[in-house]
Amino acid sequence: METEIRALKSAKNAVVLVHNYQPVAIQALGDVVGDSLELAVKAKETRAELLVVCGVRFMAETAKILNPERKVIMPIKDAGCPLADFLTPDLLLEAKERYPDAAVVVYVNSTAEVKALADITCTSANAVSVVRSLPNDTILFGPDANLAAYVQREVPEKTIIPVPPYGHCYVHAGFTLADVEAARKKGGMIVCHPECPPEVLEQADLIASTGGMLRNAAGTDEPWSVFTERELVARLRMLYPGRVFYEKPEAVCADMKKITLADLRRALEHEEHEVVLPLEVMDRARRAIERMLAVGR
Ligand code: 13P
Ligand code: SF4
Repeated sequence: METEIRALKSAKNAVVLVHNYQPVAIQALGDVVGDSLELAVKAKETRAELLVVCGVRFMAETAKILNPERKVIMPIKDAGCPLADFLTPDLLLEAKERYPDAAVVVYVNSTAEVKALADITCTSANAVSVVRSLPNDTILFGPDANLAAYVQREVPEKTIIPVPPYGHCYVHAGFTLADVEAARKKGGMIVCHPECPPEVLEQADLIASTGGMLRNAAGTDEPWSVFTERELVARLRMLYPGRVFYEKPEAVCADMKKITLADLRRALEHEEHEVVLPLEVMDRARRAIERMLAVGR
């Protein structure tokens, strides 16, 4: 199967972009494996004719928005992000009306229609820098209220308003103070994704995006308790053999696990499922994404 996939990739001049939460068998076939920001940067740079995004819908939409002329496909049509679904265009428009002077920062974990209403997007890797880059004192920030609270903690001079106030990722919201206590007993560092709840982040020794975790792991020999989706821990173990990493077995993003090798092969062979978005939505969303890419990490 792997050989067939590699042959199809080169025959079709395709690039396969894989998120860090994908099953390791899919990661092994990626031309790029990374966090949301790294995937967006690579999607912008690539000259490939066909982009295959192994992740969830918002990642494939971001790649399409940055490559309106190219074909972007996702092997599983209904691989979504429940966090993205918390923020509808109507909710955001209502908040914009209520706070006309606020800047609108939208997490990339959002729909293309919502990105089209944003001044700028951000990822977990650059949310703080993006907010600091803006002249506005008040920021509407959605859909992740935990990430909004983290940014508020790091940028106390601004007022961050979460839209909606209850948006969250069920995988990261599942980390609790009981997990912190258990991790402290094991020893070593507690490393958290910023989508974790504020009371958990307060206890973290390091807060980072998935890509940030992979990079920072190079700088220490200590055991890590990793508070994010469990596949990231498999990747850490692969990159740093001999090191001790603890995962939470229940921390699984179901949508990230929908893609199998057979799905990837079929997607490449039949060039499906194509991401199609209205041009006008893409044009407006692209402005917000490119503004973020200019800020960097
Ligand atoms: P990263 O950008 O850190 O990879 O996070 C994406 C995501 O979906 C987190 O749940
Ligand atoms: Fe969305 Fe959470 Fe899955 Fe990330 S882990 S894709 S935020 S549901």
